[in-house]
Amino acid sequence: MTRTSAVYRDTLCRYYEEEIEGEAYFAELAWRCAEPRARHRLHLLAEVERHAARAAAPLIARHGIAPKDRAALIASGIAEARAAPADWALLAAEMRESYPGYVAAFRRLEALGPPEDAARLAFLTEHEVAALDFLHRAHAGEAGAESALHRYLRATPAEAPR
Ligand SMILES: [Fe+2]
Repeated sequence: MTRTSAVYRDTLCRYYEEEIEGEAYFAELAWRCAEPRARHRLHLLAEVERHAARAAAPLIARHGIAPKDRAALIASGIAEARAAPADWALLAAEMRESYPGYVAAFRRLEALGPPEDAARLAFLTEHEVAALDFLHRAHAGEAGAESALHRYLRATPAEAPR
């Protein structure tokens, strides 16, 4: 096990858990959404969360981190979705507002991590960058704004050389 700070491991654990919650959150929102395009976008955002969590999973294993029970995280994501606005425009506005802060937080996590975690941490940050890119392009009315999400979903973290 690599020697890393408790702050790094705790933060990594929390962010990993948030991706699992996030997948359930967006999937629940999609399920509740009647408008086909918004529903599709919410499904894509759920997939992006899952893709990010999967990329981070080897780091969780590498550092012997024990995240919260998956079922509890899913239940929490669903509960959050039920408290969220049911309207795509409102949700998207909230995300455009809050996601830059997440990008900054993920970059701080990257700075705390050991070199062997760098590629996967960068890939984790990248999911928020892709989501923001999508949100801004969608807000501008750009056709095919979802390509930002599809590009992330096709990508994999290139392992940093050991
Ligand atoms: Fe996320």
